[in-house]
Amino acid sequence: MASTSLAFPTLQPQFRSSRKSFKLSERKLILHQISASVSEKPYAPPPPPTVVQNEPTKLPLRKVPGDYGLPFIGPLKDRLDYFYNQGRDEYFKSRIQKYQSTVFRANMPPGPFVSQNPQVVVLLDGKSFPVLFDVTKVEKKDLFTGTFMPSTEFTGGYRMLSYLDPTEPNHEKLKRVVFFLLKACRDKVIPEFHASYTKLFDTLENELASKGKSSFGDANDQAAFNFLARSLYGTNPADTNLGLDGPKLVQKWVLFQLSPVLVLGLPKLLEELLVHTFPLPPFLVKADYQRLYDFFYDSSSHVLDEAEKLGISREEACHNLVFATCFNSFGGMKFFFPNMLKWIGRAGVKLHTQLAQEIRSAVRSNGGKVTMAAMEQMPLMKSVVYESFRMEPPVPLQYGRAKRDLVIESHDAAFAVKEGQMIFGYQPFATKDPKIFERSDEFVPDRFVGEEGEKLLKHVLWSNGPESENPTVDNKQCAGKDFVVLMSRLLVVELFLRYDSFEIEVGASALGAAVTVTSLKRASF
Ligand code: HEM
Repeated sequence: MASTSLAFPTLQPQFRSSRKSFKLSERKLILHQISASVSEKPYAPPPPPTVVQNEPTKLPLRKVPGDYGLPFIGPLKDRLDYFYNQGRDEYFKSRIQKYQSTVFRANMPPGPFVSQNPQVVVLLDGKSFPVLFDVTKVEKKDLFTGTFMPSTEFTGGYRMLSYLDPTEPNHEKLKRVVFFLLKACRDKVIPEFHASYTKLFDTLENELASKGKSSFGDANDQAAFNFLARSLYGTNPADTNLGLDGPKLVQKWVLFQLSPVLVLGLPKLLEELLVHTFPLPPFLVKADYQRLYDFFYDSSSHVLDEAEKLGISREEACHNLVFATCFNSFGGMKFFFPNMLKWIGRAGVKLHTQLAQEIRSAVRSNGGKVTMAAMEQMPLMKSVVYESFRMEPPVPLQYGRAKRDLVIESHDAAFAVKEGQMIFGYQPFATKDPKIFERSDEFVPDRFVGEEGEKLLKHVLWSNGPESENPTVDNKQCAGKDFVVLMSRLLVVELFLRYDSFEIEVGASALGAAVTVTSLKRASF
C-alpha cells in the first residue's frame, strides 16, 4: 500500500464521508468485459496499460480554475482547512462547488516547511484520475508520500522502490525481487492465513466472553504481522527476538515518516508546530527499525540470493523487503481489514446469511477445502471485497508530475496542464464518481456480480491502477495486487465459515476506523 498525503495515506485520518453535490448523471461509458480474479498465474506479464485520455479533445478547453494564494499564507490556510476547519472530504467538495469543476488548483499539505512546493492540480472524478497511472505522462519519482519525501535515513539510506520512477534502472530490479518473493510464497498463503486468523477469532471470542466486547484492530495488527511473516518468509515472529513487538515497531516507524500529513489528535497548535511544520527525526526510531531489519534479514536468505543475482545488494534488497512488508502490506491490512469489516458489519444480517450460504456451499462442493477454485465460485464474496475497496481505497491519495504539457479531460471539460506541474488525485472521489457508478455513495454488496458488474471493475483503482490490469516492472501498480485480493477474500471466507453473523461498533481513530466487535454468532448450518 502506498501515498500522503499519503502514500500510505492509508495512515491518514478518517474524515467525514463525502456526499457529492455535483449533478448525478446516468452511467454512459462504453466498457469491455473483464474477468478479474486472483488468477492462477498472478504474476504473469499483463497487457499494456489502458491510456485513458490521449485523443484530440472535443470538450471545451478550460483554464484550470483556482489559485494557490499568497506564498506561505496560502499553503498554511489550505493546510488548516484540510486538517481542521473543513476536513479532507469537505476541503475537496467545497472547492468542486466553488469552481464548478472536478479539476482545480489547490495546495496539498504539509506545505511549509516540510514540502518545498505544495501546489498541485487536483483531479476528483473517475475520468481524469487515471492519468496518474499513465507513466508515459507522469513521473513518479520521490512522490509516494506526496509533495514531500521522508528522509532516507528511515530506510537505511536507500530510496525505496515505492519512490522510484519506472525509468530508473533499480525500479525493474527491485520489483522483480518483490514478484519473486510473492511467487515463492503462493502455497503458504491460504494455510497461514487460516492459522493466523483462527487465532484472531479465538482472541475476539475470549475477550467477548470476559469483557463483552473486543477491539478488532488490536487483534488484527498481531494477526496481520504474523500472517505476513509466516506466509512470505516462513518465520513465526514469536519464535525470534522480535517476539510480539513487530506491529508496535512498524506503527511507530510509519508514523514518524507520515507525521507531516497525519492528524494525531494533539491540541491543534501543538500538532501544527510539532508534527506538521518540521519532520520528526529518524534517529528516534533507529533502534526499532534495526530490530525489524534484523528479523527480515535472518528470514529472507532465498530472496536476498535472488536479489544479488539481479544486481541488487543484500542490504538494499532487505531494506526494500522491510518496506514492502511493513509499510506497503502491513499498513494496507491495518487500514483495509477494519474498514471492510465495518462495511460488511453495517450491511446487516441479511448479507451475512447470503455470504455464509454462498461460502459454505462452495467450500463443501470443493471437498471441504478453501481453495482458489472454490473462491472463484463465490461471486457475492468477491463483489463485497471489491465494493469495500471502491468505497474506501486504503491509499486514497495519488500524485504524479506532468512529464510534458498535457491535456487532461474531466467529464465536462479539458484542461491544459504544463510540464513539471504536480498532479494530485483523491481516489475516493474517483471511485465514487456518480457519472460512473449508480448509487455511488452506497455500499452495494452485489455491485460487481455478473457480466455487467464485472465490466465496472476497471473503475476500481485501489492498487494504483484499474482492477482489470496488472502490475508490471514498467508501471507503478501495487506489486502485491493479487496477494492483497486473495488475503482480503480469505478474511471474508474465514469469517463466514466460522460465524453466521456479527455485530460491531465503529468509532473514529487517528489511524483508520476503530472497529469493536460486540457479538459473534457461531455457525449454525
Ligand atoms: C491492503 C494492502 C495493500 C494496499 C492497499 C496497497 C496499495 C498500494 C498502492 C496504492 C501502491 C501505489 C502507491 C503509489 O505509487 O501511489 C502500491 C505500491 C506498491 N505495493 Fe502495495 N498495497 C498493499 C499490499 C502490498 C503487498 C502485500 C505488497 C507486496 C508484498 C505490496 C507491494 C507494493 C510495492 C512493491 C509497491 C511499489 C510498486 C512500484 O513502485 O512499481 N503492496 N501499493
